[in-house]
Amino acid sequence: MGSEKTGVHTERKQSDYAAFITMHMKMVQSIQSRKAWADPVYHYYDMNAGSGIVNGDDGSPIIFAKQARSLEIRSRALLFEECADSAANLRQNLRDYDSLCQQFSVIEGDHSHTLLPHLKDDICRQPFGLMYFDPNGNVPPFELIRSACKARSMKNVDMLINLAATTVKRARMAFPDKYDDLASTLPSLGKRHVLVRRPLHRHQWTFVLLTNWAKFPAMERRGIYRLDSDCGREAMMRISMTAKEIENVFTGELPL
Ligand SMILES: C[S@@+](CC[C@H](N)C(=O)[O-])C[C@H]1O[C@@H](n2cnc3c(N)ncnc32)[C@H](O)[C@@H]1O
Repeated sequence: MGSEKTGVHTERKQSDYAAFITMHMKMVQSIQSRKAWADPVYHYYDMNAGSGIVNGDDGSPIIFAKQARSLEIRSRALLFEECADSAANLRQNLRDYDSLCQQFSVIEGDHSHTLLPHLKDDICRQPFGLMYFDPNGNVPPFELIRSACKARSMKNVDMLINLAATTVKRARMAFPDKYDDLASTLPSLGKRHVLVRRPLHRHQWTFVLLTNWAKFPAMERRGIYRLDSDCGREAMMRISMTAKEIENVFTGELPL
């Protein structure tokens, strides 16, 4: 048993992640081919990398490596993993992918200590890419995300978060001084735009994308919406408020 917890949502998570990363790499490739100021390397930060292979299936670092290879995109991946066994397995599972075009570094330890030294401000060209958080159903490290968004090198690196909204709601109920609702927290993290996937399962699993790109496209076939659409606003309301709070809005007991 590895450090990754799996559940009914795992297959859908990996399928949506694979579709997302493929679309994202193509978008970044297109920008890199047109803009001389764009760094020609795709920068990937997997903040909860795991071991790469979970129950025989590809995990996020291997899905990333395969897509980057098939699109022939130059990439630099920093893979953060706190569990020593998983980090060792990940190095092993990546051995066939490391090349001049695709560079992988596995960084062992708690990402709240290991990430910030890797976010440089002395950049020549603007990096594009993705930072991915997949924290085993725990509350995402919002303060770390906020700090990362402040780095100059992260302006065009989008943030994708897989989260269980019910966990965040429970945390907010238990510690109202520490946690705000997602509709308030997500737009405050340092990126200008938020996209949300329709929540699934009783844990309300969702993907959230934080980006500075105003025209970032929705992926409606996957249930991923922009907040300027009815579906996006509905998804945000469902992940942010409890059933009771939503009921109160419609009975007039809470302001929208
Ligand atoms: C859900 S699993 C990740 C699965 C992986 N993204 C995949 O698709 O295969 C979460 C991983 O995050 C790691 N993790 C949890 N907290 C961490 C932290 N603070 N720093 C680094 N890794 C962490 C766990 O050890 C676990 O391997």
